[in-house]
Amino acid sequence: MKILGIETSCDETAAAVVEDGTRILSNQIASQVEIHARYGGIVPEVASRQHLLSVIPVIERAITEAGVSWKDLSGIAVTVGPGLAGSLLVGVNVAKAIALSQGLPLIGVNHLEAHIYANWLGDDSIDFPVVCLIVSGGHSDLVLMKGHGDYVVLGRTRDDAAGEAFDKAARILGLGYPGGPAIERASKEGTASIPLPRAWLKGSHDFSFSGVKTALLRLVEAGKVSSVADAAASFQAAVIEVLVTKTVAVARGRRVKKVLLSGGVASNGLLREQLIKHSPLPVLVPLPVLCTDNAAMIAVCGYYRLWAGRADSLGLDVVPSLKLT
Ligand code: KG4
Ligand code: ZN
Repeated sequence: MKILGIETSCDETAAAVVEDGTRILSNQIASQVEIHARYGGIVPEVASRQHLLSVIPVIERAITEAGVSWKDLSGIAVTVGPGLAGSLLVGVNVAKAIALSQGLPLIGVNHLEAHIYANWLGDDSIDFPVVCLIVSGGHSDLVLMKGHGDYVVLGRTRDDAAGEAFDKAARILGLGYPGGPAIERASKEGTASIPLPRAWLKGSHDFSFSGVKTALLRLVEAGKVSSVADAAASFQAAVIEVLVTKTVAVARGRRVKKVLLSGGVASNGLLREQLIKHSPLPVLVPLPVLCTDNAAMIAVCGYYRLWAGRADSLGLDVVPSLKLT
C-alpha cells in the first residue's frame, strides 16, 4: 500500500511516497531556511507564499522519484496541525484537490504523532508499549504510547520547547538561525565548562528550559562569556542532561519495551549518544534527515490511520494548535 505524504506546517515544503508504512520510495524536501535566516526566524506570511510556490513541484518530484502514478496510490496523507495556519492551509488544500480528482482517501495527520512514526521508517516491528520523547521547535513531550494512535502524555514543557530554547540560545550567542545545528556545530570546538542551571521540577515529568536560556543571557550581558564555543557546549549539555535524565526515569518506571526519540532536536548527536548510553532499554531514533520535518513521517502516520479506518472527509480543516491528545 503506497501513501503520498504532504507536509507544509512550518518552513519545509515536503512530499514523500512510503510503501506499507515503512519503505521510503521518495522523500523530497524544499527548505526555506535560507529565506527565513535573513530575518532571524520564520516569517509566517513569507512561509505560506513559499509553500504555494514549491508545493506542486515538490509533489511532482516525489511522484517521479518514487516511479509511481496516481493510480498506484492508496491515500493522500497531509499535516493538519500543529503549525502555522497559512502554511498548513496550502498542504491541506492541495491534498484535498488530489484526493478529489484522483478518488483517493484523504488522511489528516497530527505532525507530532508523525514525528513519533518516523521511527517506523527504520523498524516496522515495534512492540508496544513504548516511551517516546518528542523534541521539536514547538514541543517537548514525554509520551507513553500504548498502541497505534493511543497516547498518554506524561510530561511536556511548561515554557520553551527544547528546539525553541536552542534557537533562542543561538540568537543570544550570535550563532544565527536555525539555532540547534548552529549550537551543535559551535559546541564541537568548546567544552561544557560554564555552570548553567537545570530545572528538574522534582516529582513531575514536565520540562522547563526558559531558566537556562535566561541564565545564559545574563552571563552574556554581564560580559562573562569569553568563549562562544564553551557557552554553546555548556548550554547544549544542560538541556540534554535534563531531557535524558527525565526520559530514562520514565522508562525505568514502566513496563515498556523501547524508548523512541524523535523531532528536530533528535538529530543532535550528543542527545542521541547520551540517551542510548543511559537508557535501560533499547533506543530507536530515526536518521537525522527523518528527525527534522519531512513528509515520509506524514505518510507513515497516514498509513496507520488509514489502516485503522480513520480517513477524513473533504471537509478536513487545519488545526494550528493541535495537541497529541
Ligand atoms: O521537528 P522540527 O524540524 O520542526 C518542528 O516541528 O518544530 O524541529 C525544528 C527544531 C528547531 O528548533 C531546531 O533548532 C532544532 O529542531 N534542531 C536541533 C538540531 N537540528 C534541529 N536542535 C539541536 N541540535 C540539532 N542538531
Ligand atoms: Zn516538526
